[in-house]
Amino acid sequence: MPSTPSVTPTIPERLWIANAWADAAGGGTFATSNPATGEVLAQVAAGEAEDVDRAVRAARGAMEDPEWRGMSPHRRAELLWKLADALEAEADELATLETLDNGKTFFESRKVDLPSVVENFRYFAGVADKIQGNTIPVAGPFLNYTLREPLGVVGCIVPWNFPLSLAAWKVAPALACGNAVVLKPAEQTPLTALRLGELAARVGFPEGALNVVPGFGSKAGAALVRHPDVDAIAFTGSTPVGKAIMREAAETLKKVSLELGGKSPNIVFADADLKAAVRGVSTGIFYGKGEVCAAGSRVLVERAVYDDFVEALAARAQKTTVGDPMSPDTRLGAIVSEQQLERVLGYVESGKEDGARLVAGGERTTVDGRGNFVTATVFADVDPAMKIAREEIFGPVAALIPFEDLDDAVRIANQTVYGLAAGIWTRDIGKAHRVASQVRAGTVWINTYNQYDSASPFGGYKQSGFGRDLGYDSALEKYTQVKSVWVAMDR
Ligand code: NAI
Ligand code: MG
Repeated sequence: MPSTPSVTPTIPERLWIANAWADAAGGGTFATSNPATGEVLAQVAAGEAEDVDRAVRAARGAMEDPEWRGMSPHRRAELLWKLADALEAEADELATLETLDNGKTFFESRKVDLPSVVENFRYFAGVADKIQGNTIPVAGPFLNYTLREPLGVVGCIVPWNFPLSLAAWKVAPALACGNAVVLKPAEQTPLTALRLGELAARVGFPEGALNVVPGFGSKAGAALVRHPDVDAIAFTGSTPVGKAIMREAAETLKKVSLELGGKSPNIVFADADLKAAVRGVSTGIFYGKGEVCAAGSRVLVERAVYDDFVEALAARAQKTTVGDPMSPDTRLGAIVSEQQLERVLGYVESGKEDGARLVAGGERTTVDGRGNFVTATVFADVDPAMKIAREEIFGPVAALIPFEDLDDAVRIANQTVYGLAAGIWTRDIGKAHRVASQVRAGTVWINTYNQYDSASPFGGYKQSGFGRDLGYDSALEKYTQVKSVWVAMDR
């Protein structure tokens, strides 16, 4: 267990454009605060259309400058690897900053997020010099070959739940493929993304390759989506905003990839290792305060073990300690914002009103008299038609639904507009694979939950979006385009 580190993080407050700090053109700022205490951490420059335009011009400049555009893939790989080293060297500080800004436990920031960010940059460093086209057998006296080229300027818009990780998921492959990036972090958690920009410059990324423009979604985010010189938008966030981005991007025909919300089923069969299932279901919904797009928020349990499971999960939830996110004993940190807390509590009320049985948590709480905390919550006897079974809550709230048999489980699992992930708990290997093939979700975990690796693609079916993060193929699909070149060989 880590203890509270002694580092005092540097808190960035300005926009990062063309390898330099800048104020917003309009002079505006916004406060970002620590959700565990309510304390304001910084007044951060609020980027608007003019700032986004400046950042896009810097990025375009990089795409036209031989230093970036003409950089050898090996050198690009080297820079990404150096960036990984720099992130690793500052992991304590960055993890502290992440926890202060987001409210997640320091354990999660330091032991999960930061190592995965470092791994991500190393993995995509490996991709950078393995991007190549084909030679294609065509009719006639021609040589035909393809080039895999960068898209150009990529706008990355990321949310607040995994601020640095999700920035890395997009920035690392986009840079590996030779694009220039304008990153728009969430207004709740802009700090680590700004440090990422600074570190990239420190290790040698040329001016304009990575720019970071914090600001509000409706201003900085929307301006990036509208900008005619942005070639693509890679977005992670809510489904409604994903839809708005897709509509808006139609105007300039940008390539869009969307990693959106979920209401993922975690399916427990009676023949599962129930102890392991209780643990897996518990972390599936309480990890990261449940502010996880792939959270296993619908827990489907086979009738034969339903009562025992309800009791065991409720007991585990009651032991899921809410506390100071910096403390090693804390399992559940602070909900990212007052607004999100209200949203979660609203769903708790709706569950009660609809007649679901509250068996654990459901309460707002404080630590040292302050902060946006809520206890680990379990609702039993949830009907799939209830709001808490249909809508993404994005908080530590599990909805338990009993099922009768495999077909019933699959039917309920697929009874959602979302399709991000699913969990399956059973000792029957054939059953596990059958269900895995029938569930409409982009990721399926069997006898485990919340596993990620830079090499394995992640993304949604249905209204959880399209396009995949992570993985070699996903990077090429998302961040490169193919040029076909014809050469006449008979003259
Ligand atoms: P959001 O979707 O509004 O925010 C995500 C990012 O999009 C932020 O950087 C935001 O500034 C930006 N954004 C917002 N409006 C935009 C626009 N019109 N154009 C361009 N960019 C825009 O999510 P929000 O409102 O913070 O959270 C609300 C709910 O969304 C949560 O309760 C949760 O259910 C869901 N959500 C899902 C996430 C996921 O990973 N699937 C992440 C964050 C939120
Ligand atoms: Mg904050």
